[in-house]
Amino acid sequence: MIDKQSLHGEWSSRFAFILAATGSAVGLGNIWKFPYIAGENGGSAFVMVYVACVVLMGIPIMMAETMLGRRAKQNPVDTMRTLTQEAGADSRWQYLAWMGMVAGFLILSYYSVIAGWASAYTLKAVMGDFFGSNAEKTEVMFNDFISSPLRLIFWHSFFMLATMVIVSKGVRNGLEKAVQMLMPVLFIMMFLLVGYAMTTSGYQQGLHFLFSPDFSKITSKVVLTAMGQAFFSLGLGMGTMMIYGAYVPKNVSIGKSAIIVAGADTIVALLAGIAIFPIVFANGLHPDSGPGLVFETLPIAFGNMTGGWLFGVLFFLMLVVAALTSSIALIEPAVAWLIESKDMTRDQACVRAGLVAWALGFVTVFSFNRWADIHVFGHTLFELIDGLTANIMLPAGGLAIAIFAGWVMKQQHTVQELALPDSQYVIWKALISYVAPAGVFLIFLHVVGVL
Ligand code: TRP
Repeated sequence: MIDKQSLHGEWSSRFAFILAATGSAVGLGNIWKFPYIAGENGGSAFVMVYVACVVLMGIPIMMAETMLGRRAKQNPVDTMRTLTQEAGADSRWQYLAWMGMVAGFLILSYYSVIAGWASAYTLKAVMGDFFGSNAEKTEVMFNDFISSPLRLIFWHSFFMLATMVIVSKGVRNGLEKAVQMLMPVLFIMMFLLVGYAMTTSGYQQGLHFLFSPDFSKITSKVVLTAMGQAFFSLGLGMGTMMIYGAYVPKNVSIGKSAIIVAGADTIVALLAGIAIFPIVFANGLHPDSGPGLVFETLPIAFGNMTGGWLFGVLFFLMLVVAALTSSIALIEPAVAWLIESKDMTRDQACVRAGLVAWALGFVTVFSFNRWADIHVFGHTLFELIDGLTANIMLPAGGLAIAIFAGWVMKQQHTVQELALPDSQYVIWKALISYVAPAGVFLIFLHVVGVL
């Protein structure tokens, strides 16, 4: 079993795997979501907890999830089946993979809607719509945009179709090349925007908001949201890293790769924050203005900086591509499962899975207009799907992965897969067996009010 070949081929090199995993990690989560939920959750308090979660839970769980996939080399459901047999454990560990697939569909359903916004904004940038923007104009533009269900459906469909086409071409062909180009350009764009932010009057205040430690603002909601965001942004807990791990050649160091991917992901998120909050403060916008934050701030930068037209077009284009390399990662576990277990061709699997996520996406579309007034437990339907997946399902999946890797799998197998020097293995083992599971568990207990 250990020599099993993945049905879907392998990454061509360690670099290719790192690129693909970075492509999965870096996406709307970094540039759209991180700034607005940091803004809603007290800025620096959120950022501190977030970084701690990435280091103490994110990196060890990313290693564990990749390792499970590489050992069994199948889709997440069959990977868990194979590994439980190998470890002589309860077959119900498979439910972990099922929950992951459900989470993947739910996330993809709204992810595609937001990526549709970014696509529409690319066109706006091309048309020069941001020229001479100010806070009032960008707010009106955004609110006007999301008020039309038909427009949102159009762009959501556009993006989902693009995802389906790329995934149908297979992970290797479609993905490696796209990410290779994207990452450098995206980094340059982020630095450029930070450069613009430095010239605004809100720079100091923005940095202060994000980085000056303020423990008084740490509430259980802040901690839960920060933990959820760490899982979401790294793309953990639902099988993405398992399926990407299944394509990893044996000689690749899982530990080093995880650190590089998590590092790049965190840097992009922080850069996005550093670019956005100065613009927020300089223009009298509010840090807690919600999912529209990026779309209301950055057009102001593009509308007023030299070369803003070009940079605006490039930026939103990059954002769409970054979203594509993540949406691919969200759908791949289900696609691989349909191919391997349901004997579908890759094309059939892509169409089925894509249509399910597309249909689910209508809930998110309407929750920004027609159904905006529907609140369940004080949340819109979009917030509910987002909260359920990011804050509950992903950490729960991560918790299960940690327990499986730390306690169920034979130690000799994890030693073999990770191939770390002893001193580093001990650190990983302590984090995966104790720190990460206890962290998730205690945060859950705290939120439900037991602690
Ligand atoms: N990490 C991506 C982002 O930040 C989204 C993503 C890709 C994801 N794969 C995932 C989120 C798996 C959760 C689970 O945009």
